[in-house]
Amino acid sequence: MENTMQQEQHSLPFFGIPRLFPYLRKYRKTLTMMIVCGLLGTSVDILMPLLQRYALNHFIANHTLDTLPWYILFYVGAILFASVVNFLSTNGAMRTEVSVNRDLRTAAFDHLQTLSFSYFNQNSVGYIHSRVMSDTSRIGSLVSWSLMDAVWHTSYLIGSLAVMLFINARLALLVMLILPLIVILFSLFQKKLILANRKIRELNSRITGDFNEGITGAKTIKTLVVEEKMAGDFVRDTDEIRRMSIRAARLRGAFAVTMHLASSLALAIVLWQGGYIAASEVGTFSMFMSYAQGMMEPVRWIVDAISDVITTQVNIERLTRLLNTQSDVTDTPEVVEKYGDSFCPKKENWEGIQGDIEFRDVSFRYPDGDEYVLEHFNLKIPFGSNIAIVGETGAGKSTLVNLVCRFFEPTSGQVLIDGRDARERSQLWLHSAIGYVLQTPHLFSGTIRENLLYGNPNATEEQIRRALELVSADEVVDRMEKGIDSDVGEGGDLLSTGEKQLISFARAILADPRILVLDEATASVDTLTEQKIQSAIDTIIEGRTSLVIAHRLSTVRNADLILVVRDGKIVEQGTHGELLRKRGHYFRLYTRQYEDEATSSILAE
Ligand SMILES: Nc1ncnc2c1ncn2[C@@H]1O[C@H](COP(=O)(O)OP(=O)(O)O)[C@@H](O)[C@H]1O
Ligand SMILES: [Mg+2]
Repeated sequence: MENTMQQEQHSLPFFGIPRLFPYLRKYRKTLTMMIVCGLLGTSVDILMPLLQRYALNHFIANHTLDTLPWYILFYVGAILFASVVNFLSTNGAMRTEVSVNRDLRTAAFDHLQTLSFSYFNQNSVGYIHSRVMSDTSRIGSLVSWSLMDAVWHTSYLIGSLAVMLFINARLALLVMLILPLIVILFSLFQKKLILANRKIRELNSRITGDFNEGITGAKTIKTLVVEEKMAGDFVRDTDEIRRMSIRAARLRGAFAVTMHLASSLALAIVLWQGGYIAASEVGTFSMFMSYAQGMMEPVRWIVDAISDVITTQVNIERLTRLLNTQSDVTDTPEVVEKYGDSFCPKKENWEGIQGDIEFRDVSFRYPDGDEYVLEHFNLKIPFGSNIAIVGETGAGKSTLVNLVCRFFEPTSGQVLIDGRDARERSQLWLHSAIGYVLQTPHLFSGTIRENLLYGNPNATEEQIRRALELVSADEVVDRMEKGIDSDVGEGGDLLSTGEKQLISFARAILADPRILVLDEATASVDTLTEQKIQSAIDTIIEGRTSLVIAHRLSTVRNADLILVVRDGKIVEQGTHGELLRKRGHYFRLYTRQYEDEATSSILAE
């Protein structure tokens, strides 16, 4: 594998639980308390039939009430004690569950922040979302509730069997005979139930997916006139879920009945073989009845807990795989040592950034692609120059700027910033000096002001206003009901793409970056706005290195240098005038676009 591939670790033994130990260590105390209290609680449960036995054998059989007050006191004391320890262990399980959930989610979220672009290229949002949300919650409940169930019920089973063996070994052994039968029966049902539930879950997520598509793609669905097909899929899936749910309910019913039968069988054994016990030992007889009946639930819960352990393996595996995925763009330990990481940047060690960029013999292919996008690419961009990059879709323009921003690293060769390999300094150091405006702008939910402050948290009212005016975004803001404090909706969806573009432009300017990257940033604004932005660009690129990928060639006329990119290579470079005189690629691109624009403006008239 190339060293640029994201490293995912696959080796996981069948029991992945040891992987969780680092996350559980913090809760050692809570877990110990939970287990100890659980054991104490079960001892009281085991004690109850014994107390019953004493009452029957002593008070009833001997017609005496001599120790009754003590008996009552002990009985009530035991019940109170059980209530307290049961509360404590349940509370411990609850606390462990929510804490482990939180820790795993935080770890996953923090880790995701460190991963590079290519991870998000290769894994869908849905996939990542369920790793962070559902895997963590299943693991959280495994290490709390399933663990507690296992402790409670295993100790109850062992304890009650021990008491029975101690009091009447022959009867105890007979009762124990049916245990394997119960275990087998339960496991069989368990397996079927798990399968049915898994199927239901799968269908459910498919339905959620359909639903999402139905909503987010509503316009497309309508314009393609595929409502009927979408509705058909939906009906098919919901029908299937109905069928599976009924099946699961039937299984659960049959399960309950079988359990009842099994416990009756245990009772029958006690009745049949316990009949010979002397009348004075009627308490022993009743005790056996209680234990025999009480054995069913624990067995069921233990089988449940074991199957939880097994089914949660896959969640543990997927989550730990995410947590162990190494970003293919990472800072070396030495760099982190000096420059800090995103959670603890050591800004005092950061050199000021000048803004010289150089590609030195760079070859690059995307981690999941097999063709080189750039090969032996060389380019020097001295500080302060205004570079325009033009070329057809897929030529490699965005790839070039992705490399400058170190969203990806060269497969071979170097990208130098201020004369030093970008890898010698931290990603954060570089990113703090780059302003990047994309063709598909992203705003965060919140107000316009909040979005602008992402660019510079300390910006003054004055600076914000100026940035907005510079890109004519003040008109957008003024049109809105609450002005700058208007909500932009999820992902900025309450604004048009062009409006989002203008806001993200202002945001980049507020950050006052040394390097400004505009990737077809004006593709979604109208010609008039584009002209305004163009004059804004001309002012703001002053004193910065800028890389402008232009959609409309009319906007690059003033660039210091225009690069014409084709198949990852620079096929022409020069100023607008020089390139036109050459009558090559640029000339053809330019005249074609000029004609297109002329035609459409004539048509518009
Ligand atoms: N994230 C990616 N993963 C794999 N291949 C990509 C990725 N982005 C772009 N490519 C490929 O790299 C080539 C150049 O793409 P790009 O730099 O986006 O072109 P441009 O910005 O000039 O339209 C294209 O062939 C495209 O298919
Ligand atoms: Mg592009």
